[in-house]
Amino acid sequence: MLSIRNRLAALFFLITAFAVGVVYLYVTPQLQTSLREERQASLADSAARLSEPILDAVQSGVPRTDLEEAVAEVAQRAGARVTLLAVSPGAQTVRPLVDSSTGEEMKDADLEVAKRALDLGATATGAEPGDDGLIQAAEPLLVNGRITWVVLFTAQAEDVEAQVALIRRQILVAGGIALALALVISVLVARVITQRVRSIEQVAERVAAGDFSARFPTDAKDELGQLARVLDDMQRQLAELDSARKRFIATASHELRTPIFSVGGFLELLEDEDMDDETRRSFLRQVREQVDRLGKLATDLLDLSGLEAGSLELRPERCDIGLLAQVVTSEFVPALAAHDSRLEVRLGGPSIRAQCDPERVGQVLRILIDNALTHTPSGTDLVVTASRSHGKVRLAVRDSGQGIAAEALGRVFAPFYTSDGTQGSGLGLAIARELTERMRGSLAVDSEPGAHTTFTLELPVASPV
Ligand SMILES: Nc1ncnc2c1ncn2[C@@H]1O[C@H](COP(=O)(O)OP(=O)(O)OP(=O)(O)O)[C@@H](O)[C@H]1O
Ligand SMILES: [Mg+2]
Repeated sequence: MLSIRNRLAALFFLITAFAVGVVYLYVTPQLQTSLREERQASLADSAARLSEPILDAVQSGVPRTDLEEAVAEVAQRAGARVTLLAVSPGAQTVRPLVDSSTGEEMKDADLEVAKRALDLGATATGAEPGDDGLIQAAEPLLVNGRITWVVLFTAQAEDVEAQVALIRRQILVAGGIALALALVISVLVARVITQRVRSIEQVAERVAAGDFSARFPTDAKDELGQLARVLDDMQRQLAELDSARKRFIATASHELRTPIFSVGGFLELLEDEDMDDETRRSFLRQVREQVDRLGKLATDLLDLSGLEAGSLELRPERCDIGLLAQVVTSEFVPALAAHDSRLEVRLGGPSIRAQCDPERVGQVLRILIDNALTHTPSGTDLVVTASRSHGKVRLAVRDSGQGIAAEALGRVFAPFYTSDGTQGSGLGLAIARELTERMRGSLAVDSEPGAHTTFTLELPVASPV
């Protein structure tokens, strides 16, 4: 019942009905009044213009038949009943002398306008109210400065009424046609619109069912075309997300399968009872390494999915980044020694405070230092700098390693990206970037192959207490 088609049809119908109603109820009465006024004015005009021949006839004393003829001719030209009235000398009354109409005689009441013309000594007009009233104009005729006759022009208001009734009927007929047209057009327009909405809906249903090849009809320039374009954009993003998700799952399961197969293989070998102790220990060490790798992978995957789902809770607070850098770098003393590297911490001031979760900034810093040690040749030196500039707190990890090739720079933050493919699972930087973005900070990389690599973490400055 409340479909667009029905509502549009009802709306078109109501608007048209309203317009017809206004014309019928408001315009026609006005038209009626102005038609009556016009008729009255035209009678007055005829009275002034056409009375001349009658005056000539009565003055020259022509026979009555000639007078009657003159009156009849004037009546015909004026399109009205014409009555020549004689003014009784002295007594200010009038009485019909010659009448163009042979029908009903003029009543006394019908002579009021003529009497007024007599009193005024000028053209007088009048109209009786009602549908069957008379519309009259009277012209006094002067002979030697005295009014001797009055010519009375009379029209029936019924003539005007007939015209108005005709117009009313025509308005009703035209209104009826307009209403029918409005209904038909609105149904047609609504059908076109609903068909277009339906086709958008069908595509949306296919997309919802996972068919990303379905295309929205985006060629129209109007609002529905605009809607289709927005939906098309949304669908493209959904398709991208969907393929990213599939890629992520495929890579993650592949990453998990490799160490599991490897552990399975070693366990099978370990079942061999004739194995010497040295080989057994070596196999067990490899199994432990693979299990450690699996453990780290599982933790990283959980971290990343928690970050992406927004379920990982952060506790931002004012924290001293310089102090944090010193604490975290001190954890790497054994790793630095093994890598034959030196690490220098440079602080740009006594207390550099950022608004962040210290636990998570520590995690990011560990990921960066770990990379600077894992992906560089031994003996590579590291510099960790904490500073403050342009309203941001900056923490940079710089190594003088072999650097990252320009074409790989844009991809290092993508999950599972690794350049060597063997050392790690490629989740470290993806986690680091998600974490910084959650803390309203940013993580960027700058590298010159063969010279250095610098990862810079920017965090918002802590608000003053
Ligand atoms: N300091 C660096 N110097 C050179 N290459 C780097 C450096 N840091 C990162 N990379 C490159 O970026 C890739 C992605 O790093 P990321 O930390 O995300 O993964 P990963 O270290 O390979 O594995 P994971 O950290 O998950 O164990 C690395 O494989 C490496 O190729
Ligand atoms: Mg790493």
